[in-house]
Amino acid sequence: MKISGSTPLYALLGSPVSHSLSPLLQNGWINEHGFDAVYVGLAIASDYFESALEGLFHAGLQGANVTTPFKERAKAACMTCSPDALKAGSVNCLFRALGEKATGFSGTSTDGAGFLADLDARANGWRERSGHVVILGAGGAARSMLYALSSAGTKGIHLVNRNLSRARDTAATIEGAKVHIHGWADIEASLRGASLVINATSAGFGGLDPLQPDFSVTGADCIVYDSVYAPRETAFLRAAKQHKRQALDGLGMLVGQGALAFETWFGVRPDIKAGLLRLEASLGS
Ligand code: ATR
Repeated sequence: MKISGSTPLYALLGSPVSHSLSPLLQNGWINEHGFDAVYVGLAIASDYFESALEGLFHAGLQGANVTTPFKERAKAACMTCSPDALKAGSVNCLFRALGEKATGFSGTSTDGAGFLADLDARANGWRERSGHVVILGAGGAARSMLYALSSAGTKGIHLVNRNLSRARDTAATIEGAKVHIHGWADIEASLRGASLVINATSAGFGGLDPLQPDFSVTGADCIVYDSVYAPRETAFLRAAKQHKRQALDGLGMLVGQGALAFETWFGVRPDIKAGLLRLEASLGS
């Protein structure tokens, strides 16, 4: 990678971002394709997200991923949003759609499609088995997953969140689907008989605030999915394995959503397997 004064800049916008594997993933694909571009992490102070976005647009940032806690604010700040982003109520990928006429970024959401592609790849038969799905969390990641699952025809979705009114708002974005809302105190009850349980909260990231629900009450063939991928084996997944449930980490979703973002920016689908191997090597797994 040769960086010059005219090298186009791509970034991950969030807070924090220093733990992120996205720079390794995206720069690996940029190198494989021989593109003149570079991808960096930018940690943005919460009060300044919108002004930082405006400044970065006018400084020529070509595209970005958006991560916790800015996905919903990114949707509000975009000039235009794709139907997926509007439905999911969150934006995780920014791009410059209108060339010189644009005065701000356009946004899309690749989280939901990346998540479904990962489930299809690693959880054989999940569609047939999914009769009682539990999503923990109601932020941007949860909204994308909820939208993706309901679009895939999944019935019986339970949304569990600490902040109940946020859970209600999130559920209300999904038209025509009956989503059951629960407060955090009902987490164990909501897991009873579950066939798919997803941690879409940021709890467990970097080993902080580990989530360890009692998975013994879930269905015996329940799939447990953690959108957190650092550490790779979270306390959440360890708790699932203790009860012999199928445990899937979020690395595949990270690669899936990243590949769709790369395609949005560069017009070519990158090598997903190579991306996954690169990340696994960096995590020593
Ligand atoms: P993202 O865009 O990654 O989804 P977000 O929009 O900041 O990030 O949402 C974070 C989610 O994780 C929220 O559902 C949050 O719950 P609240 O809405 O009640 O704040 C949830 N969350 C964060 N830390 C948590 C913790 N320690 N325990 C349980 N839920 C947590």
